[in-house]
Amino acid sequence: MDQNRIYFFDTTLRDGEQTPGVALQTAEKVEIAKGLARIGVDVIEAGFPAASPGDFEAVQTIAREVKGATICGLARANEKDVQKVSEALADAERSRLHVFIATSDIHLEYKLKMTRAEVLEKVKSILAFAKGKFDEIEFSGEDAARTDLDFLCEVFGVAIEGGATILNVPDTVGYMIPAEFGDKIRYIREHTPGIEKAIISVHCHDDLGLATANSLAAVKAGARQIECTVNGLGERAGNAGVEEVVMALKTRHDYFGDLEVNIDTKQFTKLSKLVSRLTGVMVPPNKAVVGSNAFAHESGIHQHGMLNNPQTYEIMTPESVGAEKTSIVLGKHSGRHAFEDHLKNLGFQAFTEEKINDLFAKFKALADRKKEVYDDDIIALVADNLNHKNAFALVHQHYELGDQGYAYAHVRLTTPDGEKSDAAVGDGPVDASLKAVERVVGLPISLKDYQIRAITAGKDALGEAVLKVEYNGRMYRGRGISTDIVKSSVHAYINAVNSVYLAKELEEEAQ
Ligand code: KIV
Ligand code: ZN
Repeated sequence: MDQNRIYFFDTTLRDGEQTPGVALQTAEKVEIAKGLARIGVDVIEAGFPAASPGDFEAVQTIAREVKGATICGLARANEKDVQKVSEALADAERSRLHVFIATSDIHLEYKLKMTRAEVLEKVKSILAFAKGKFDEIEFSGEDAARTDLDFLCEVFGVAIEGGATILNVPDTVGYMIPAEFGDKIRYIREHTPGIEKAIISVHCHDDLGLATANSLAAVKAGARQIECTVNGLGERAGNAGVEEVVMALKTRHDYFGDLEVNIDTKQFTKLSKLVSRLTGVMVPPNKAVVGSNAFAHESGIHQHGMLNNPQTYEIMTPESVGAEKTSIVLGKHSGRHAFEDHLKNLGFQAFTEEKINDLFAKFKALADRKKEVYDDDIIALVADNLNHKNAFALVHQHYELGDQGYAYAHVRLTTPDGEKSDAAVGDGPVDASLKAVERVVGLPISLKDYQIRAITAGKDALGEAVLKVEYNGRMYRGRGISTDIVKSSVHAYINAVNSVYLAKELEEEAQ
């Protein structure tokens, strides 16, 4: 591995999928993985194959279909997990095992109930089992940032001897302060036996809002792999955002020196939007790099400076992250070729003829209702139509408004048992329609969160509904788009119900 290069390990599909309520289906994960390969990340952590049959299927499909990046699977330090990763990655162009065990005293005492000596033994034995099954092995000491440093160096030394070439230092609970974290990375470099045969990686959580800063401090101290996610998704407060870390390294190469960063930053905005649509997690407008306000200048003084010289208030250009103003792209007279070309420009390059025809029909229907169709509308349309395995789909819906705010709704759905319809009364058309869907589906699902917003400007804009439902103690997100917001809401609800149904089916299959 090249010590003058920063390697990017993207964990949007593993740690990012641990964002509460996010449950991506395989087709959605494949589309994100292809986007990650296109921007040039070195490693895609596609999932945790032993976690569920759905995770296994997604990792295996990505390993088969996504080329140009190393595909990685996560495993705890046990043979069953490692074996699952090996099976899921069998067809990958290049495979990586990411195996972890906690190393901090608090995790050893209260979670693993193991001694330090037992952890060292476990690392040795699991690496012996994994040897030869993968192109490369990464070892993580979970909660490494709160681990006794000499013990961590000892564990890493054993891991290197066992064949690991990437040693990851997770700040699992987002506890580090940048200068302190940099010192720890320096200490590990100086005190780990055999470290010259490996590279140091970091994986920072954002509990104190320092994930990006800590990752950068680690680079300065010699770390050469950064683990991150699109839009900073991840467990609790999330991980370092790939767009933030990359743009900091590029914008401040004067500070970081000549480190190679092989990422196509012009695709950041597009990828951010795709991930946001598919996960249902909206990007805050003030989010660095990819937020909608990241290049907006409000005050007169700033606007004046910008007109004279953009560098007065802009340290990077909107073009460098693909955030130019959205152009009007297509309308109802646009043909199939123009539409297909446009899909390719947006990065959707591998759809079948059948899929393009289906999307084109939906685009035409949208263009009939909406004069101007923007890039954002097309991304939303694609995101909404990626899944093939939908158990439930809307056939027809109708509602009537009564006086005093009540509404009556009727829906017809395709279901695994054929078409079914039902009706309900509620506190308005959305409430009534969702209740009618609930009656058709017949599962004890409860709505926990509901938001609606316009995707682009204008009276005829597409409305996007994003909601969360709870089933069996787990949260599932759904999203739906339409120019009619009641319809968006029904689509979003059915989308969430489909995730519930799929998870339920996979769990039943596994038993
Ligand atoms: O945060 C963490 O410690 C992790 C490990 C599995 C690397 O996600
Ligand atoms: Zn993590």
